[in-house]
Amino acid sequence: MTEPSTAAANAAAPTSTRPRVLSGMQPTDALHLGNYLGALRQWVARQDQQDALFCVVDLHALTVPEAVDPADLRHRSRAVAALYFACGLDPERNVVFLQSHVPEHAECSWILMCTTPLGWLYRMTQFKAKAEGRDSVGAGLLTYPVLQAADILLYDADEVPVGEDQVQHVELTRDIAIRFNRLFGDTFVLPKAVIPTSGARVMGLDDPTVKMSKSLAAERPGHAIGLLDDPKVLKKTIMSAVTDSGREFRPEHASPGVRNLIAILASLQGEEDTVVAERFVGRGYGDLKKSVLEAVLEAVTPIRERFEALMGDPAELDRILAQGADAARSRATSTLARVKAAVGVGT
Ligand code: TYM
Repeated sequence: MTEPSTAAANAAAPTSTRPRVLSGMQPTDALHLGNYLGALRQWVARQDQQDALFCVVDLHALTVPEAVDPADLRHRSRAVAALYFACGLDPERNVVFLQSHVPEHAECSWILMCTTPLGWLYRMTQFKAKAEGRDSVGAGLLTYPVLQAADILLYDADEVPVGEDQVQHVELTRDIAIRFNRLFGDTFVLPKAVIPTSGARVMGLDDPTVKMSKSLAAERPGHAIGLLDDPKVLKKTIMSAVTDSGREFRPEHASPGVRNLIAILASLQGEEDTVVAERFVGRGYGDLKKSVLEAVLEAVTPIRERFEALMGDPAELDRILAQGADAARSRATSTLARVKAAVGVGT
């Protein structure tokens, strides 16, 4: 990857030397272990070393309008923000906000849409997967990554911490920024995706050939490890995870399901997969599943307790989100002014 273009980086130099970071999650269905290991955990782990903003991308949740229940969306957006905090994001050290509270995202997205070739959007694997089999899809499903680009570029983000499935969107963001800078002069900082060393792609427990996803979790019990699932549900999901017809663990013959369980355990315990695998050689899959369950319960129990406390005080949550939106907005307005000046509108 190339370095950020110097003029734009200087124009937008953050006041501190810490990298500027932005990331977000959709408030679709309940968040799962993949969201935690792939994204949230690294957001929290590095919060002292970065100048970070995290949003709940509620406008992105509108791209499949059939699935939108307005009251539910409002609730979920707040619940996802509460989960960010429950996982350890500190609102004093990070700017946390709902995307729709900062209208500059939609405005910047329009300008970027005008410079983004359609072919780039048709190539996105997430678009292809979501559009497949549907008679008709909204234009928002196709232009979704341009709104994501606006989320990132509006804050001059150097780094975007995400799971592996979002790398393509971050690379597209970079391409959109390069093209815009070429057409209108250095305006945007070029961001790069930052992927965790473990947990970047957690697979489904019922089908280890597909990644753990919120949409499949909503349809298929046993697919995902929900961060807020009841311990009994977690036990059922983990103990019935797909393995293979063997009885005991042999690393050289491990099936994708078994490898996924090893990877989850290793990631939760902060160890290498091979080290964890070594411990289970010759032991039954039941033992492996019990260890995964214990590690999951240890990670999610305090998260669930803090989440419940935060959701019990909606006024305080709204206050923190309003403060986050103000802080985000003051940064977004200055970038958007730069963008509008570059293209000759708004003045
Ligand atoms: P979303 O909401 O699908 O996922 C949120 C984050 O969780 C990661 N993730 C996973 N990581 C490991 N294993 C998995 N099975 C797994 N499933 C999800 C995702 O990579 C992501 O980091 N388009 C984005 C939301 C978005 C965004 C942004 C992200 C909108 N604007 C700007 C970063 C920056 C999405 O749908 O993520």
